[in-house]
Amino acid sequence: MDLGLTGKVALVTGASAGIGYAVAEKLAEAGCKLIICSRTLNSIKQAEQSLIKDFIDVEIFSFCADVQNAEQSQSLIQESLQRFGRIDILINNSEGASFSGEAVENLSDDDWQTVFEGKLMGYIRMSNLVLPGMKNQQWGRIINIVGTSGKEPSSRLIKSGVANAALMNFTKSVAMQAAKYNVLITSVNPGVIDTPRHRQYLEVFAEEENQTIDFLRGKITNSIPIGRLGFSSEVANLVIFLASECASYITGITIAVDGGMSSSAF
Ligand SMILES: NC(=O)c1ccc[n+]([C@@H]2O[C@H](COP(=O)([O-])OP(=O)(O)OC[C@H]3O[C@@H](n4cnc5c(N)ncnc54)[C@H](OP(=O)(O)O)[C@@H]3O)[C@@H](O)[C@H]2O)c1
Repeated sequence: MDLGLTGKVALVTGASAGIGYAVAEKLAEAGCKLIICSRTLNSIKQAEQSLIKDFIDVEIFSFCADVQNAEQSQSLIQESLQRFGRIDILINNSEGASFSGEAVENLSDDDWQTVFEGKLMGYIRMSNLVLPGMKNQQWGRIINIVGTSGKEPSSRLIKSGVANAALMNFTKSVAMQAAKYNVLITSVNPGVIDTPRHRQYLEVFAEEENQTIDFLRGKITNSIPIGRLGFSSEVANLVIFLASECASYITGITIAVDGGMSSSAF
């Protein structure tokens, strides 16, 4: 199947590990020119080296930036445009809110402000920075890596749940505005994916619940109909499809990659 991605310029944020790295691999395999970023210089340089090793022909530009910071996001886009002249695909992928099962009345206004200024505002800002160019060239894809907690609230994930619900709503509204320019915007909701972030979540959860990590991993696995955690590559497979010409009539929706874990029918 021709994905129609050869030569497209794709920017993947949060690309040194986990889901972001897996997406960068698939985009390189599909023939994209790549811009990758993360907050840690060493890790993004290592990711760049691994991608060059595995995909010798890939044109790649790595940048150290925190995409939840306005100035750094602006610099990332400016440098990317200087390097490649255009951005065709943006994969918004960065750290979600901190995990905590604490009572909502114990969360301060500042705690909530941190949530809104984090992944939510980061994805909105990055989208704003690439949308004018995409509309102008009459082709673009923005894919937001969100999370099932936006649709299926959990008492342990209240902060990320609120931000994720807003991001799903943002995806739909902006998609409606941008569709006539052939700029398609979608979200992907990973379920439980075995990444460094998930392992960090298990550590916090185990400490709060006074349980072992193995016990909690087993409990989570039992709640997934497919009977195992997901792989980052399985999320990346959907992202590549949504970025490709094969998805030319799909916009505004959010799709879960969760092994059947979400309980809602729609
Ligand atoms: N794993 C899951 O089960 C799961 C479930 C639902 C939703 N999600 C969502 O999927 C996304 C990716 O999760 P993951 O599990 O792949 O995370 P991960 O394993 O922690 O990897 C995150 C990657 O993003 C980079 N990063 C994080 N915040 C950043 C920022 N502000 N600016 C630039 N780079 C940043 C990290 O590198 P540096 O630390 O060096 O910046 C790393 O490369 C997140 O939005 C998460 O909420 C994941």
